[in-house]
Amino acid sequence: MADTAIGYKEDSKSVQKIDGETFIQEDVHAKAGDVILDLGCGTGELSATLAKLVGSEGKVVGVDPDKERILLAQKSHTKIPNLSFQEGSDSNFPGIGFETYDMIFCNLVLHWIPNKQRVFDNMYKALKQGGKIAMQYGDHFPLFTLQAYKILNPENEARICEMVTHEPRAKMEKYCTSAGFTILKSCDCELQFAFESTDGLLKWLRSVTHGVFDLSLVTEDRLQKYLALYSDKDGKPCLDFRGASEHSTHSRLMAVKDVATVAE
Ligand SMILES: C[S@@+](CC[C@H](N)C(=O)[O-])C[C@H]1O[C@@H](n2cnc3c(N)ncnc32)[C@H](O)[C@@H]1O
Repeated sequence: MADTAIGYKEDSKSVQKIDGETFIQEDVHAKAGDVILDLGCGTGELSATLAKLVGSEGKVVGVDPDKERILLAQKSHTKIPNLSFQEGSDSNFPGIGFETYDMIFCNLVLHWIPNKQRVFDNMYKALKQGGKIAMQYGDHFPLFTLQAYKILNPENEARICEMVTHEPRAKMEKYCTSAGFTILKSCDCELQFAFESTDGLLKWLRSVTHGVFDLSLVTEDRLQKYLALYSDKDGKPCLDFRGASEHSTHSRLMAVKDVATVAE
């Protein structure tokens, strides 16, 4: 749906974009001249950040199975010559099967993909020797989202929960090393889940679930019940979930195809 793609572009600014940019600054270390695949690029905001970092000698290709998000990414970033977008997925992207990329960036996507071993195997084959993966992923639903699905959208709760498959960090590390990678860093990190308004949170829930979280099912009664869980002592909604591991912990994983060739 085009409107949920537009919603994702707007609503993800406060969480995925800020958080992804922090990840890029802290751990990704994209270099001038790098050729990067942004796997599961959404509407391409972070692909554009990476394209600036790799400069005119480098190139970024963003791939996502959501056609509307790709169309919006293509429309929004026409002025960046070293950036392109294409509909695709973890098992169907440009350069798959060939040693094409210096880096594969994958922000908050892995938990959306059921067959995780296949993702790591495909990424491994598509990287040059010395190429790296840089990933952030969820290993559990943040509690405030689970409560929202249960209280605000009970009709769609099961469907939403089935959309993603979380697995623990130890299992992700196993998939990664089984594919042949050497892990450089694997750690927990905190996502910046903070919403300025109830409306902002509801719209975000809608767009991250590709529209399955249905705003029309959020009755006033349901909303009051939900907000009672997250209100301050004066009864004012407090939708800043930072600093609480049950709400905001995700994981980061950096790995390399052949550690011997990496010059730090
Ligand atoms: C939470 S969004 C993250 C988007 C973007 N990386 C960002 O940080 O804003 C997850 C994205 O993964 C995409 N996705 C789902 N299944 C995928 C698959 N099998 N291969 C690649 N991407 C997938 C979704 O369409 C969605 O755009």
